[in-house]
Amino acid sequence: MSNILPIAKSTTVGPLNAGRIAYGCWRMAGATASEAQSKIEAALAVGINMIDTAPIYGFGKQGFGPAEAVLGEGMALGGLRDRVLMVTKGGIHPPNPYDSRAQTLIESCDDSLKRLRTDHIDLFLIHRPDLLAAHEEVAEALTTLRTAGKIREAGVSNFSTDQLRALQSKLDFPLSASQPEFSAIHTDPLTNGDTDIAQELGLCLMAWSPLGGGRLVPGARGEPGSAEARVLAVLEEIAGRNDVGIDHVALAWVLAHPGVGSALIGTQSEARIRESVKAFEVQMTRRDWYAVLEAARGEKMP
Ligand SMILES: NC(=O)c1ccc[n+]([C@@H]2O[C@H](COP(=O)([O-])OP(=O)(O)OC[C@H]3O[C@@H](n4cnc5c(N)ncnc54)[C@H](OP(=O)(O)O)[C@@H]3O)[C@@H](O)[C@H]2O)c1
Repeated sequence: MSNILPIAKSTTVGPLNAGRIAYGCWRMAGATASEAQSKIEAALAVGINMIDTAPIYGFGKQGFGPAEAVLGEGMALGGLRDRVLMVTKGGIHPPNPYDSRAQTLIESCDDSLKRLRTDHIDLFLIHRPDLLAAHEEVAEALTTLRTAGKIREAGVSNFSTDQLRALQSKLDFPLSASQPEFSAIHTDPLTNGDTDIAQELGLCLMAWSPLGGGRLVPGARGEPGSAEARVLAVLEEIAGRNDVGIDHVALAWVLAHPGVGSALIGTQSEARIRESVKAFEVQMTRRDWYAVLEAARGEKMP
């Protein structure tokens, strides 16, 4: 039996098919529309079809939606809308930290549809749990949006498993995705139930910041003696053996877990978007995978 971990290239979000590497547009605010178009085209060229954004990305003087707006313009320029699975979110609402009242979520989704120049969102996520919103009210908003055809699938981000389950209990359709932070330097989803509930409920777990937001990339060192430095050293050894970058190994490590649906990369470099699929070439053994986890924990597995 092979000790190489299989890394499938595609996954599903409810009935929708998606590449296992997804592209996040948090850092896209400030790009031009034609730059946005080129980045999405670079992603599509290598099978990255799930595109993630949020109204809060780029929030500032222009208010909500700068990252969504430039993405919408870029997709319109290239006629790309029908080729992507469009993911956006609602519920982060300065000056309130969070606001998932039904009316707020519905209006937020309507505004996203306008900025993204589309009539439906393929996957709509509650960005962070609003502790003051009853699960029943959030469910009511998602149901209203889905019945109106404004969203196809629904999910959550940064929810605990209890919060996810409580929301699911108020819905008469299944949630299809969860989006937690997960990388070789942020391994909580392995033990807090995130990767388990994704398998139990058939959710596409979308790992955000799989490269630690830029800390697990070639040239990164980390503080001497830190978990990050230890992880980087193990990633480098695996990368050297596979003739790929440590960023590709970091992605492969996330994608090799059976509870993970996709890894959500955020580079603004078209070359790095295209090269990200080298993650699928990494021959990672079970021993390699656990060596990365042991480096992150600073101790051997018990
Ligand atoms: N749901 C949530 O609460 C939440 C929170 C955060 C993020 N997200 C989603 O996750 C997406 C990805 O997050 P992220 O951008 O933090 O992901 P990431 O892929 O872990 O990190 C991206 C960063 O790494 C850098 N990088 C990547 N490859 C590199 C390389 N080879 N050499 C040097 N630098 C490199 C990028 O810089 P360059 O651009 O220069 O390559 C960029 O600054 C976001 O866009 C968003 O959609 C969701």
